Amino acid sequence: MFKITLLYGTIREGRLSIRAAKALEKALKESGKADVTFIDIKDYNLPVMEARLKDMTNPPQSLLDISKALSEADGIILATPEYNNSYSGALKNTVDYFTKEWAKKPIGICCSSDGIRGGINASNLLQLLVLAIGAYPMPYKLLIGELPKVLDINANVLNETVAKNIDRFVKEYLWFVEAIVTQKKKG
Ligand SMILES: Cc1cc2nc3c(=O)[nH]c(=O)nc-3n(C[C@H](O)[C@H](O)[C@H](O)COP(=O)(O)O)c2cc1C
Repeated sequence: MFKITLLYGTIREGRLSIRAAKALEKALKESGKADVTFIDIKDYNLPVMEARLKDMTNPPQSLLDISKALSEADGIILATPEYNNSYSGALKNTVDYFTKEWAKKPIGICCSSDGIRGGINASNLLQLLVLAIGAYPMPYKLLIGELPKVLDINANVLNETVAKNIDRFVKEYLWFVEAIVTQKKKG
């Protein structure tokens, strides 16, 4: 069983991309190989970052909780909608608080949009962000377009191709996590 932390990153009212993040969480759990911690940044009310966690003298409990979930994870997934050809500002703000938490973590990327391109621009930039924080981006990304058509309000998948893509992503991601966890055990 791998410990996976899924960080879902937009706080927009009426957000649809939570359906993509929840569908992925469900598929990971159904694999029987992942113990998933879902972090919805809307629950944490993080202000715009003025100091990184490592530089704070009295950090808020919210940051300590997220830090713990990231540090303990064998693998992390970043899930975001595409905003203005990029990932959400709220996700970037959250990422910027942390440093050592990311080191050498295998990171899966899940991007979504209401248009047909499924957040591909955001996903490409997110891979660069993952490199910048010293983590490993998985090459295969989960892109989900036409959100309201393909996922219902309870994150049930309504489209066969999307179901296949989620399935492929989960298999590839668990392989990727296992490869890195195995290597880390060797020291
Ligand atoms: C500020 C903003 C910028 C957006 N920019 C893009 C974009 O560049 N490309 C795109 O495909 N969709 C874009 N969208 C539409 C989102 O894909 C759409 O809102 C979708 O439902 C996912 O975001 P949500 O979780 O906020 O609902 C944008 C939405 C907002 C609110």
